Amino acid sequence: MLKITLYLIVLVVIIATAASGYHLYKVNAKNKQEMKNFENEVKLDANLGKTLVIYYSLSGHTKDIAEQIAAKTNADLYEIKTIETYSSPSVYMKSKKELSSQNYPQLQNDNMPDVKKYDTIFIGAPVWWYTMAPALYSYLNMTDFNNVKVVPFSTQGSNFGSFFEDFAKVAKNAQILPHESFNNMDEKYQSQISNKINNWLNQLAK
Ligand SMILES: Cc1cc2nc3c(=O)[nH]c(=O)nc-3n(C[C@H](O)[C@H](O)[C@H](O)COP(=O)(O)O)c2cc1C
Repeated sequence: MLKITLYLIVLVVIIATAASGYHLYKVNAKNKQEMKNFENEVKLDANLGKTLVIYYSLSGHTKDIAEQIAAKTNADLYEIKTIETYSSPSVYMKSKKELSSQNYPQLQNDNMPDVKKYDTIFIGAPVWWYTMAPALYSYLNMTDFNNVKVVPFSTQGSNFGSFFEDFAKVAKNAQILPHESFNNMDEKYQSQISNKINNWLNQLAK
């Protein structure tokens, strides 16, 4: 009996490893295909007026994209910060609970930007559990955009789920412009990512 149980455990581990390896292979192939579209240099030609980039980031991917957008649009930058920080691996269960109970984390509210001062506001966060990270819910719930143009963006492993639909439901009085999403990519795609951002900014400014 013990032998059969052990065999079963080994079998489950082998299947799980193979499935995650296959998933990773598929994601890498999809990323490679997407990055092919941005191999040629895209010149930045976008004036979006007075711009602000607001972001939440736990491990730096969204921060990186936010900083690139800010540098390209000469924008002010504002980081959403929670009072209690998340740690790994409890972030998964903690955030799952926050999302299902709609009991979002408290934010450090120091120097909240006055959104009315801007023509365009980019707002980005990581995808957690196929929606917005709870800290972005916290921020959106406390903000009225007064008809300002708002451009959402996300970063994720591979699947942004209902991030942008959920964003539109919660962002009060925002004039929402076309979003963009960024899978976590290998360092080697830096120039393609930059071209992807330029392409998006140029479209937004049209
Ligand atoms: C709690 C948690 C849940 C996540 N859920 C998803 C998900 O549903 N889909 C996905 O593609 N990536 C998911 N990810 C991966 C993150 O979206 C991705 O790594 C993101 O770029 C991290 O951004 P950051 O470095 O700015 O924190 C999740 C990560 C965490 C920590």
